[in-house]
Amino acid sequence: MIWSNVIGTGGYLPATVRSNDDLSRMVDTSDSWIYERTGIKTRRIAAPEETASSMAEIASREAIARAGIDPQSIDMIIVATGTPDRVYPSTACLLQQRLGIRNGVGFDVQAACSGAIFAVSIADQYIKTGFCKTVLVVGSEICSRIVDWNDRATCILFGDGAGAVLLTASDQPGILSTHIHSDGSYEDLLYCPNPQVAIDAQKDEPGVINMRGNEVFKVAVNTLGRIVDETLAANGLQQNAIDWLVPHQANTRIIAATAKKLGMTMDQVILTLETQGNTSSASLLLAFHEGVRDGRIQPGQTILMEAFGAGFTWGSALIKY
Ligand code: UT7
Repeated sequence: MIWSNVIGTGGYLPATVRSNDDLSRMVDTSDSWIYERTGIKTRRIAAPEETASSMAEIASREAIARAGIDPQSIDMIIVATGTPDRVYPSTACLLQQRLGIRNGVGFDVQAACSGAIFAVSIADQYIKTGFCKTVLVVGSEICSRIVDWNDRATCILFGDGAGAVLLTASDQPGILSTHIHSDGSYEDLLYCPNPQVAIDAQKDEPGVINMRGNEVFKVAVNTLGRIVDETLAANGLQQNAIDWLVPHQANTRIIAATAKKLGMTMDQVILTLETQGNTSSASLLLAFHEGVRDGRIQPGQTILMEAFGAGFTWGSALIKY
């Protein structure tokens, strides 16, 4: 049997830090409200010249260096992003160019905050079936460019960054299972219009994130609880088989509910929310990278990744590291 093994991780965060106090000078909010309701204290903001592909390149180069592989051996690049450099070419093609790779294939996945899980799931299918040997998965987002900086309900949440993971074929267990879902009937609760290609030009909506946060919150908690059950059942595992929860970083209260469902303490959760905010499809890859880099995640351990986002989309990946 062929498995997908993690051989390298990488991450990139832009230099500029925007604190809750900075935001309280922009909108009617406070550090205490934001921290208590979300767990966020600071987030990073990309410089004007940075793009999803430029950030993806830095995260990818780190993953490639940590894996110690020749970039030319990468035969598929999947970039998850809701903030692509261009409508086309895909950010994955732009990344391919930046990495100097001219073989294989690159394409983007758009599943909002669940994008990294969707991309890992696709990569795993191609590796397991023998069509690809080494796949680079990246989540890269410049959320700051699609946030309404006058909307206190959303601008406090998001940040910019990129995370990368390299997967390769092996005869040893790696990705144990992936589970991805969507239900498009929730469009109105969380969406970002594309003003260039408006569905209804009369609406004249700006291209910023619109979210009914409290309603999203409730669906997210319930749905992530179900995906935990689905993942454990598919692998015939009990809660105590999971060493680390690596969640999409949207809100510490949502993450705490998932940890509770798994019978885990917050010490078994890789949290980056406090200093990074919600970086959408980049967030769980950045968290995974942090856990690997600082040595908390050790070879042989079992990691549950999960995410929930606009669509709604949601999913999980169970990984033997
Ligand atoms: O990543 C993709 C998926 N996204 C998510 O999972 C996000 C899910 N949602 C959330 O994380 C939370 O719903 C939020 C953090 C966005 C909001 O927290 P909440 O506890 O659900 O607050 P709320 O929306 O129910 O608002 C409570 C109050 C409202 O005032 P009133 O109506 O009670 O007077 C809001 O106007 O808090 C007010 N409020 C704020 N006050 C200070 C909303 N935003 C702010 C703010 N500062 N930034």
